[in-house]
Amino acid sequence: MSATNSLLHTLDQSSERHLQELIQWLRIPSISSDTSRKSEVEQAAKWVADKFDSAGIPNEIMATERHPMVFAQTPKIDGAPVVLVYGHYDVQPVEPLDQWISGPFEPTVRDGNLYARGATDDKGQVLTHIQSVCEAVAGGHPLPLQVKFLIEGEEEVGSENLERMLPELREQLACDCVVISDSGQYADGQPAITYGLRGIATYELRVDGPDQDLHSGSFGGAVMNPAVALCHLLSSMVDQEGRIQISGYYDNVRELSKSERQQWRALPQDDDSFARAIGVDQLFGEKGYTTDERRWARPTFDINGLTAGHQGEGVKTIIPATASAKISFRLVPDQDPRDLTAALQQHIDDHAVTGVRCTLKSDHGAPGMLADTDSRFVHAAIGAIEQAFGVKPVLIREGGSIPIVTQFQEVLDCDCLLLGWGLSDDNMHSPNEKFRVADYHRGIRASAILWEEIGKLNQTV
Ligand code: BES
Ligand code: MN
Ligand code: MN
Repeated sequence: MSATNSLLHTLDQSSERHLQELIQWLRIPSISSDTSRKSEVEQAAKWVADKFDSAGIPNEIMATERHPMVFAQTPKIDGAPVVLVYGHYDVQPVEPLDQWISGPFEPTVRDGNLYARGATDDKGQVLTHIQSVCEAVAGGHPLPLQVKFLIEGEEEVGSENLERMLPELREQLACDCVVISDSGQYADGQPAITYGLRGIATYELRVDGPDQDLHSGSFGGAVMNPAVALCHLLSSMVDQEGRIQISGYYDNVRELSKSERQQWRALPQDDDSFARAIGVDQLFGEKGYTTDERRWARPTFDINGLTAGHQGEGVKTIIPATASAKISFRLVPDQDPRDLTAALQQHIDDHAVTGVRCTLKSDHGAPGMLADTDSRFVHAAIGAIEQAFGVKPVLIREGGSIPIVTQFQEVLDCDCLLLGWGLSDDNMHSPNEKFRVADYHRGIRASAILWEEIGKLNQTV
């Protein structure tokens, strides 16, 4: 039996333990944005470090100014490729809690799916690579390459500490290719390699009016209502079609090439079933672009949260003292999030509503990413995925963001391989997040085969 075949055999025999281990990790509520969860976030990092320990893989928990990262590596092999697996153990908040069928941190298997916050984003997906490498090392199956791991706890809050520390970590993280499983398949049964992601810029916009809430009968008509002012301001930012109205916003947007559009049109997209799956009667967006084009390669504006005034039961006739919105812009190559912050501030100044004060707080930003679609690593991954899933992957872009990826490309000067095992109905960031158990196991197999395929590369170059 070849080394990989015997590894695959071991993986099959250990599948129940692999599932139980994911369940253990998912029980830890590692919500990075929640300051009251600091110790749980640390506990989740410790869980990964212990996992590497138990396989005998040297690792360290690296402190940052906020949440720790876990680094691990298998032994260097002279002349063989070096791969860096990147992923995150932090998760998004879980509200609204009443919409979860089982608790977000009580992982439960139903109909072949494992439900829990972090199941697909990203504990379940990154664990596929950890499992394949831990089994190889613990079981004495020689790996034909060196695998390094960087599993961080701040991806969902913008990866600012990793970004700051990356230059110092350049030698330690040096690699030929970063491998990330934190995206999705194109459709059920149609695996994908993702060669592009959108960037993101997030803000909080606050409008302050009177010192305290006022009776809307006594004061309405005499003072500007901050909630109304906020609505005016927000609606000035985007038109009814989704075109962003901030001056200069589209200046650096790279248009899609004819050939890329043609390739995407060959993908099996169906707007009606897409709409049905998310419970809307119609899709929405910029004219002249298909749904995938709008999701993957066009910039967008969103309100992620909106707060003002009375939220309790019944009527309370007030002019609220303040109103605020959390907003985000998805960016595409070659937009720069820093340019946007300046342009947005200018837009707010130009559209200033008198009688209230508007404050813009920039949270974090990251540019869009494009990877080489023809690298030797892509070719290796196509082979590995085809063997594990029985279907050749399609090459796609996605609309989500992984803030650190462009920094990896620049600072580590490496290729980037995004292999998503998830499905579009996995409910990332939503109630009832899930990961199909079969996709978890297939991901582990694909990962093991990927190491073999990448190992073969050094014989050909
Ligand atoms: N895993 C996602 C990114 C993603 C989503 C890639 C869908 C491909 C398809 C990641 O964890 C994520 O949610 N990123 C955030 C970044 C933000 C909080 C800075 C995002 O995209 O909103
Ligand atoms: Mn993720
Ligand atoms: Mn996420």
